[in-house]
Amino acid sequence: MSGGAYGDRGNKDRSIANPDGAGTLVARPGTGGARHTGEAFLIGDTMTGGYGAGPDILHECTVAVNRGEIAVIVGPNGAGKSTAMKAIFGMLDVRSGSVRLDGQDITGLSPQGRVGAGMGFVPQTSNIFTSLSVEENLEMGAFIRRDDFSGTMAQVYDLFPILKEKRHQPAGELSGGQRQQVAVGRALMTQPKVLMLDEPTAGVSPIVMDELFDRIIEVARTGIPILMVEQNARQALEIADKGYVLVQGRNAYTGSGRELLDDDEVRRSFLGG
Ligand SMILES: Nc1ncnc2c1ncn2[C@@H]1O[C@H](COP(=O)(O)OP(=O)(O)OP(=O)(O)O)[C@@H](O)[C@H]1O
Ligand SMILES: [Mg+2]
Repeated sequence: MSGGAYGDRGNKDRSIANPDGAGTLVARPGTGGARHTGEAFLIGDTMTGGYGAGPDILHECTVAVNRGEIAVIVGPNGAGKSTAMKAIFGMLDVRSGSVRLDGQDITGLSPQGRVGAGMGFVPQTSNIFTSLSVEENLEMGAFIRRDDFSGTMAQVYDLFPILKEKRHQPAGELSGGQRQQVAVGRALMTQPKVLMLDEPTAGVSPIVMDELFDRIIEVARTGIPILMVEQNARQALEIADKGYVLVQGRNAYTGSGRELLDDDEVRRSFLGG
């Protein structure tokens, strides 16, 4: 966590994290930690591509997140934010560029392969099974695991107590903010090395948004780097170590969250003045 942008928000429990993906800067024997110096933990590097045979949506677009940090992607509707996330998750073919996770080139992996490699992804839409109970959603999240995941589920319930209370209810009956907690919890069930969230606060009230951001900070504190797209740009940049403004599939501005918030041009064009 650089710069302490979010101060004392969130807790410091690291136990939910996959130890191999924990946001520690200390190189541990056997993990090749030193190899990653100067390289982001997850990077979609100069990605160019679009959907199927359609036109390119992304143009040499680069987004990344470092160990122990929160990176935020903002930009106008249709800028390609979700497309960049999907490209990193392997849901569209990049014509050029690459995706690297923890020093490994994963450009050729399927989305499921990327989950196996340590990616947790919460897409912008259809991110829960509405007819399944909260607990069944979490169990579905653990689909790639062959070990006992009850400990992880207990950690998810610690992080999101309301989910424990409502664990037997169909997820579709929950409020918007609670559904997003289910979606994040589901992604955490694989013990990801990195978490990607596409608009986790979409459609919720400002109070619920603040709560969700606090939960997201807590997840980051457990050692899981977070790359997220946010519509609530100002609030998101306030908790961001790194920010990316995308416009028409291109990087328009990149800096620390604070730098972007303080940039007159970024403020005028993307943050409402
Ligand atoms: N499945 C798809 N097939 C073809 N084109 C798509 C598809 N999804 C998105 N697009 C196009 O890609 C461009 C970027 O869309 P994208 O959803 O990535 O934007 P966004 O920045 O996430 O916008 P929003 O803020 O509305 O979520 C748009 O022109 C959109 O029409
Ligand atoms: Mg989007």
